Amino acid sequence: MQIAMVSAECAPIAKAGGLGDFVQGLSRALVGRGATVDVFLPYYDVSRLDSVTGLREVYRELRVPFHDQWLTCRVLGGAMEGVNCLFIDPRSPHGFFQRGRIYGESDDPERFAFFARAVLEFLLQSGRRPDILHCNDWQTGLIPVLLYEIYQALGLTSTRVCYTLHNLGYQGQVGESILRQVGLDPRRLMAPDRLLDPQDTRVANLLKGGIVFSNFVNTVSPRYAWEIQETDQGMGLQSLLKTHTHKFGGVLNGIDPSIWSPEVDPLIPVNFGSDSLPSKAANRQALRARLGLRDAEKPILAIVSRLDRQKGVHLMEHGIRYALAHDSQVVLLGTALDPVIAERFARLKHETEPNPDCHLELGYDEALAHLIYAGADLILIPSLYEPCGLTQMIAMKYGVVPVVRRVGGLADTVFDANYSDKPFEVRNGYLFDDLTEAGLESALSRAIGLWRGFPEYFRQLRVNGMRADFSWSLPGQQYLDIYAQIRA
Ligand code: ADP
Ligand code: GLC
Repeated sequence: MQIAMVSAECAPIAKAGGLGDFVQGLSRALVGRGATVDVFLPYYDVSRLDSVTGLREVYRELRVPFHDQWLTCRVLGGAMEGVNCLFIDPRSPHGFFQRGRIYGESDDPERFAFFARAVLEFLLQSGRRPDILHCNDWQTGLIPVLLYEIYQALGLTSTRVCYTLHNLGYQGQVGESILRQVGLDPRRLMAPDRLLDPQDTRVANLLKGGIVFSNFVNTVSPRYAWEIQETDQGMGLQSLLKTHTHKFGGVLNGIDPSIWSPEVDPLIPVNFGSDSLPSKAANRQALRARLGLRDAEKPILAIVSRLDRQKGVHLMEHGIRYALAHDSQVVLLGTALDPVIAERFARLKHETEPNPDCHLELGYDEALAHLIYAGADLILIPSLYEPCGLTQMIAMKYGVVPVVRRVGGLADTVFDANYSDKPFEVRNGYLFDDLTEAGLESALSRAIGLWRGFPEYFRQLRVNGMRADFSWSLPGQQYLDIYAQIRA
């Protein structure tokens, strides 16, 4: 089966969060099951290309209609561990992907609208006819719309679209001029059963377009699939999703064992597994030495996260203060796009700087993230909503016990040590419901208390998390089944 995976991110080339891990991990899992996968990405100036081999120009002058004119772009191709990577490199005066970062530009809608049209134009002009176009998030929401409205008639007749929603907090609400720019007719499409935003009838909603025009739509955990239909987590799209249940489902993400396994991870000082847990201590020591955490006798609570409202930044801050006040150490690694949140954490860093139990690292650092997972004892994820969440799964693989809010994929993967209907062997962390400081404390206090008072029981929780299967083998097969179903 030929799959074209289209996304704004793919680790390690361009990653801002879990979408990058998803595209890399699923693509490799699909290749492992005999599929051919082409990953389409923008050619960002910040792309890390060291993992791509044989990078070459595969199309010199792809002409793409945009804004009533033809813009040219290059298409570059290479390979990353069996996955083909194709990069769209516009030679336009706009410098669409030369911005020093992946997202956060005022013309993001235009940048990704161009990307969407260029991918389809490339398929058409190069004669490639993938069985499946697998699109992700609002940045690629126009692809199924363009396929249906323009490209099927031009010859892309056999391609079907699977559309994955990673985050309903970002829907791509744009002025209708974006539709005109890519050659679509707003008079046809700005309708309630098409792209018209359900909450603001002046704008088009690209995520909605993707949902309406794709053959199958899924999100990244069963619980989030339910929440976005039944609760306000649907962020305005609840009733739309409910009218599309015949083609909608939840598939829990995996994590790639060749990247996220303490047994083989080259980025950590000492490899270890559930049978050699004492070796985790050397990583803990290395983490403390690197970040200047002096006390060996206190649990290390970690946060590795985008610092975004979604992630519960106010509860993160409370969790940090609570842990420090309860004889624990704290490590935070995070980046904020929102200047108000960035400022809040800069202040917190300044305030906690003198405390040798606390280290806040405000930036993006893949290698440090691996060391934190390897060395920490607890990880805090107090999200307002969480479509899947990979950090809790990664952390568990490294013997870190998660303390999380009971939402989305967190609720599907973390089972409370004390209050769960699951057998003890699969209990692996701590959950709380209320989005309040008291709610958070109800879980964090139990976790810290167990670390201190019952080390053997705490060790067993670590082992339970490490032994869980969070690999891509089941979800990889589930996606292949979806593809087969929509082709039939
Ligand atoms: P989201 O995609 O919502 O950000 P996920 O839990 O799905 O959350 O995935 C987050 C991914 O990004 C994980 O691989 C995590 O290790 C990584 N990550 C998040 N923040 C940072 C950071 N500041 N530095 C390095 N890696 C980070
Ligand atoms: C999004 C979600 C996160 C999910 C990731 C990969 O960024 O916020 O929960 O794990 O996508 O699907």
